[in-house]
Amino acid sequence: MQIHKITPYVKMVQYFKEQCPPVSIQLNLTNYCACKCIMCKKHEWKLGSIEPDIVINLLDQFKKLNVESIVLSGGDPFAYHNILHIIEEISKRDFKLGILTAGNIQFDYWTAILPKLTWLRFSIDAYDQEQWSHIRGSSRYDVMRQNLETVSKLGHNDKVRLNFCKIKNVNEDQEEKVRNLANELGFGFAAHDVRTFEEFMHKQDHHSFLEQKCIVPYVHCLIESDGSVFPCCTVMNENDHLENVNFEYVLGNIKDFNNDFGKLWFSEKANEMKNMLYNNRVAECSTCPERYYSSNIEYSKAVDKGLFL
Ligand SMILES: C[S@@+](CC[C@H](N)C(=O)[O-])C[C@H]1O[C@@H](n2cnc3c(N)ncnc32)[C@H](O)[C@@H]1O
Ligand code: SF4
Ligand code: SF4
Repeated sequence: MQIHKITPYVKMVQYFKEQCPPVSIQLNLTNYCACKCIMCKKHEWKLGSIEPDIVINLLDQFKKLNVESIVLSGGDPFAYHNILHIIEEISKRDFKLGILTAGNIQFDYWTAILPKLTWLRFSIDAYDQEQWSHIRGSSRYDVMRQNLETVSKLGHNDKVRLNFCKIKNVNEDQEEKVRNLANELGFGFAAHDVRTFEEFMHKQDHHSFLEQKCIVPYVHCLIESDGSVFPCCTVMNENDHLENVNFEYVLGNIKDFNNDFGKLWFSEKANEMKNMLYNNRVAECSTCPERYYSSNIEYSKAVDKGLFL
């Protein structure tokens, strides 16, 4: 499920708020990737990976909580040693599954995994090899192009999208070229702005408008590779240096709850954080991405229409 397709859940959120189970969970299986991106410092982090046994145990717990969809991100999901097995286990439990990848890791099992995915997004910030290598800090342009070519021939193109991260004064000239590449390959295309930190601070237009209420923390969370659970990747500040990650907004760490996700999710601290973020915008919310704030717009519209109560 895309999180902004929230209408079926507005009633649940309105009535149950912090008692709602999550609808969608992003699992950052590992913080390793094959890039050194100029706009993301995750490649410097040393958090490691979530153990496969713990991931599988979490999947069982998510099923009991009626979680609908899992997003695999990171780091790069394809840098995770047991990725095939994990995809298989997610698929067996009938979760919707989305994967975000830079696409520059050799992978030979696209035929096996594509039918199991709800969506697949390749983060491609440049078409020209030199530009791509500069932005992604990688020499594996050919691997990335080969993965795109392979996937485009396998008949699941409606699930696949190229995501372009716009960096002012860096790759604006590449947007049209990446869009054309997506067209040629039969994939979708979407562009979004880079989230701000340090050198990008002055290059970013912030939203002038955000909904007052944010329901995202009631229905979504992100589990980082060290077990920390955050309400969303934006308040976490997930692309920055590790020391700038906002651990003050953490809901908790699953390790402190003996890997019992439900206990963490419904804990007093987690609920306080969810309620705080429902009622208050914090500085990071100024770069809230479309996929999150569109759910809040939908929620506000539903409230205005008196869809419930
Ligand atoms: C952190 S990456 C993890 C998945 C994978 N490593 C990848 O690059 O697709 C998730 C997404 O964040 C995007 N991203 C990286 N740095 C960003 C930033 N500073 N602001 C906004 N998005 C960013 C990436 O382009 C990617 O689409
Ligand atoms: S954007 Fe993705 S590939 Fe690039 S450094 Fe961050 S996690 Fe790694
Ligand atoms: S408004 Fe803030 S808390 Fe809500 S999803 Fe956006 S960044 Fe996260």
